[in-house]
Amino acid sequence: MSPTLYIKYEYAKKMLETELEILIHSFEQKHGYTPVEHMKSRMKTSSSIQKKLERKGYEYTEENIVKHVNDIIGFRIVVSFLSDVYDIVSLISHSTNIIIKERKDYIAAPKTTGYTSYHLIVLIPVYLENLVEYVQAEIQVRTVAMDFWASLDHKIRYKFKESIPEEVKKEMENYAKDIQQLDKKMYYLNQIMSKYQ
Ligand code: GTP
Ligand code: MG
Repeated sequence: MSPTLYIKYEYAKKMLETELEILIHSFEQKHGYTPVEHMKSRMKTSSSIQKKLERKGYEYTEENIVKHVNDIIGFRIVVSFLSDVYDIVSLISHSTNIIIKERKDYIAAPKTTGYTSYHLIVLIPVYLENLVEYVQAEIQVRTVAMDFWASLDHKIRYKFKESIPEEVKKEMENYAKDIQQLDKKMYYLNQIMSKYQ
């Protein structure tokens, strides 16, 4: 990636980080409680960008990077309750500084692996001299329970590469269901608790 393109992504990442912090902070002020457990961000390394383009059958060119890799900038927002996921998504959707390009609700429709999360592909306006350019980023929003499952799943994938044993896959699919049940219970508990405030 050329230094110019890299700087554009770095700049967009900073803009998005600031915007998300402001949105979350104003939500906290308004509702008097903190839905976010933590927020992390990362830039995809050039070797992983290269691998992704290869996997998708594209050459490693700047045009293909911009067009086909939508998660060079990645944000992950981990929240307490299921309802917080949708509150955060709605908060981001209403921001005038973030344009939603695509929504993937893997909570309503989990992936075959069992993976659940809410993904947003967004466009961040970056002002360079007298023109504006839109830079893509991926925001993943999930509960602590979903995050626990995803990080274990990630370790399993790393260990077994392409050939995860069937019994391991099956167990993980079952745990994904357990996680969903647990999130529903926690949500229920949160509703009970809100009666006492
Ligand atoms: P990519 O081309 O790989 O980005 O696929 P996609 O564009 O269809 O995106 P998708 O929203 O399906 O997944 C993108 C990201 O979600 C991945 O980089 C992971 O961080 C996460 N993810 C998706 N599926 C899984 C899964 O089964 N397990 C785990 N641990 N993470 C997943
Ligand atoms: Mg993606």
